Amino acid sequence: MHPTATQTPERSEYYERLDRHGLAPLWERLRGLIQKEPRSAALPALWRYAEVRPFVMEAGRLISAKEAERRVIILENPGLKGRSQITGSLYAGLQLILPGEVAPAHRHVQSALRFVVEGRGAYTAVGGEKTIMAPGDFVITPSWAWHDHGNDSNEPMVWMDGLDIPIVALFDASFAEGYPDDRHPATRPVGDALARYGSGLLPVGYERQALTSPVFNYPYDRTREALERMRVADEWDKAHGLRLRYVNPVDGGWAMPTIGTFMQLLPKGFRGERHRATDGVVYAVVEGRGRTTVTDADGKLHVFDWGPRDTFVVPSWLWHAHEASADSVLFSFSDRPAQEKLGLFREMRGNA
Ligand SMILES: [Fe+2]
Repeated sequence: MHPTATQTPERSEYYERLDRHGLAPLWERLRGLIQKEPRSAALPALWRYAEVRPFVMEAGRLISAKEAERRVIILENPGLKGRSQITGSLYAGLQLILPGEVAPAHRHVQSALRFVVEGRGAYTAVGGEKTIMAPGDFVITPSWAWHDHGNDSNEPMVWMDGLDIPIVALFDASFAEGYPDDRHPATRPVGDALARYGSGLLPVGYERQALTSPVFNYPYDRTREALERMRVADEWDKAHGLRLRYVNPVDGGWAMPTIGTFMQLLPKGFRGERHRATDGVVYAVVEGRGRTTVTDADGKLHVFDWGPRDTFVVPSWLWHAHEASADSVLFSFSDRPAQEKLGLFREMRGNA
């Protein structure tokens, strides 16, 4: 790209006149607009659950889930202060529901994922079906689906929310509305969607109704079992270990149209090769201990020693590598499906 042109009094005066007419000189801006390679404003960051949890619980004493509508502590990227984003395209937060509470029914065009961090027995209801959640479960609330959350258990429940809020904002396409009652009426039994769509079977004559997977809870026990069976075959990816992606059983595509979700196993002693991709990735540690090293755009090394329930983010195009000192399981999500649909996704590995 061209260097910025020299300023002269004549040019400056011209730029000022342009500005008064809703015009601007591209040559003054080109370098910032079209970069030679991705340079995210987001920074690599780690949130240790032991440090974040007290703040989450404190919110539980300050405001009810009902008054807050959604009592969530945003995981805000330190490079994107005030923007409620964890990457350039995604939002993430930790939501708390205490025993007996309800987060009232609403819907919005933003797609949401829930990844359960702590507690078991609370539910999310989506479009008239409840699912009871346990740690490691990946739950979807599709675009424009009514959803409410409640906790009929006797312990606090915390899950990570991941939403495509910044993507919808990019298109100025947000719609949202509240349901007249706190809870949307139940029209189907618990577990119906998983039985119907998530058992390697589909009802004959089924026609897809949405871009999102009709399975809206991918339970951890099944995911963990799949990883455990697969490890026997010893087909480890040099960078990712054993990494699976959650699929929409209707077409084999991503479970959500804008957000890609993954679960990976890194065996004890794993030392992954470095890699980078255009999708900024949010990782949630389910089990194990390990370390991820990220080199930021200025060449500075960030070393994240992580353990269960910690969250970390690797922004777009930064080299990073995972190591595991114990068998470790990482959930992750990114905007990869959106990038693939737009022909933007790229990745690099090793020393290439
Ligand atoms: Fe919501």
